[in-house]
Amino acid sequence: MLADTSETARQAAALVRFHYQEDEHDTRLREDHPDLYAPDKVNPGFPCDTEDGPLEQALASAAVLVDERYTTPMEHNNPLEPHACIALWEEGPRVTLNDSTQNAHGVARTLARVLGLERSDIRVISPYVGGGFGSKGLPHAHNVLVVLAAKMVPGTPVRMALTRQQMFSLAGYRTPTFQRLRIGADADGRITGLAHEAVEQTARIKEFAEQTTVGTRSMYAAGARRTSHRLVPLDVPVPSWMRAPGEAPGMFGLESAMDELAIACGLDPVELRIRNEPESDPETGLPWSSRHLVECLRRGAERFGWSQRGLPGARRDGDWLVGMGVAASTYPGSMIPGSVAEISYGGLGHYSVRIGAADIGTGNWTVLSQVAADALGVPIGEVHVEIGDTDLPMATVEGGSTGLVSHGSAVLEAARVFREEHGYSPEAGATSRGTAAKHPDADTYSPHSFGAQFVEVRVDADTGEVRVPRMVGVFSAGRIVNPRTARSQLMGGMVWGLSMALHEHSVMDHSLGLVVNHDLAEYHIPSHADIVDIDVSWLDEEDLHANALGAKGIGEIGITGTAAAIASAVHNATGIRVRDLPITPDRLVR
Ligand code: MOS
Repeated sequence: MLADTSETARQAAALVRFHYQEDEHDTRLREDHPDLYAPDKVNPGFPCDTEDGPLEQALASAAVLVDERYTTPMEHNNPLEPHACIALWEEGPRVTLNDSTQNAHGVARTLARVLGLERSDIRVISPYVGGGFGSKGLPHAHNVLVVLAAKMVPGTPVRMALTRQQMFSLAGYRTPTFQRLRIGADADGRITGLAHEAVEQTARIKEFAEQTTVGTRSMYAAGARRTSHRLVPLDVPVPSWMRAPGEAPGMFGLESAMDELAIACGLDPVELRIRNEPESDPETGLPWSSRHLVECLRRGAERFGWSQRGLPGARRDGDWLVGMGVAASTYPGSMIPGSVAEISYGGLGHYSVRIGAADIGTGNWTVLSQVAADALGVPIGEVHVEIGDTDLPMATVEGGSTGLVSHGSAVLEAARVFREEHGYSPEAGATSRGTAAKHPDADTYSPHSFGAQFVEVRVDADTGEVRVPRMVGVFSAGRIVNPRTARSQLMGGMVWGLSMALHEHSVMDHSLGLVVNHDLAEYHIPSHADIVDIDVSWLDEEDLHANALGAKGIGEIGITGTAAAIASAVHNATGIRVRDLPITPDRLVR
């Protein structure tokens, strides 16, 4: 039965009484769980474990050793616009979905398989998306339900919008993690052995393996390295993508341990990182497409006033203990080949650029217009971009910080083909297509973005309340196509990093297997009053070894490392090392 209004539907649903036959269930992640296993791969296809060099020997003979455990909690994606979908079933059959998704073509592909339809029978329209952060990168159960419901009433559109509370069970989340970091160094702080081992959860019904330790593989020069992931399958919803899956929790562990190593070595944490700068990617041996972490650190230290930092617990301003912290950021600079763009000339100085990409609040509408205008050599006012529809040429997911460079590479190629086929005075109706090919340097260079984050915190000496008056982020992410949207992306990432450090924590009631703080009153995120001065900047560069655009995605690097920088600053303010997120006041009141 379908209702005419959402209110009626909810009222009716509330009247349904379910009776469950209870089985044993297990929703609690433990490091020593008997069902721990190693997945074949971790998201989106990395090896589960890596090992290079005699690690245990290196750690045993290290002059300085840090061996610590860190944890991050379950966290939930909360884009401002909850997941919503309208489906219209027409005879044929032909199904049209107006969906809020980062991946229109991916939704159509998956639903066709799930529902036994031809891919060409499904159209997904998604021109504007109110945030996604990974939770809209794949279709979820509500998409399937709404299509099945629409099938009952052909010709009538059926709408389903998740409530905020439903999003805490139906749209994915970030797994909690246990992380053990061991870093051995010589007396000068040069790392001789580095191990990062993670335990995380997945669902019994479907595996999702977060790549928690993958960022560590490429960060620092170390003679011997090991990274691993172990999963526990539980009776929980399937974890999924949440902004910087892997790097966001993993860099909290790694960069916190680096901060501890700096103290153990008696080195400035900026200097420690500079001393361990690898010449090439330690994981693959490949040269970097570009790596300017040291420049980010130096420039950030200058902008922030890092030289003013004192010893832990040494600075006090009235009731407030004041501290400064630092951490490094990284994220893969990936490009996914295969997207197709079509360019046609409509006459009168009017170019249409068509590609089934998405803009999830990132500015893709704007930057793809810029890329197209630049590639065609025309003013931006002559370019009209169309995105967000599976009737447009195939585009890969707007996710993994790959959108701009993957879709932009298709637009670049389409523009090149268009000029080759139609020249600079095309006939009206002239049309060409281009496909984003694998970049020629894809197998011979290692593309990553880097950044440095500096934070000042003030901790109330009596209550443990943490305030963050200042953050400075300096990033190296190739060519920045649009400074305005870029600044917003990087700042948004840093805000979320602060949120991860101090607020976010999904609390599960293990007797019910339900997240109980499932609304924005109790799932805490920062408000405007929590965000004061964020200074975002980047290096002026172009990385043509990464992709044809010379850019690298910036949707995710801003959140990586931030939480570690805040934990570092909290330690500098109070002398208390918090290794378990979030850093709530109870952890700081002695
Ligand atoms: Mo992002 S978690 O890859 O949408």
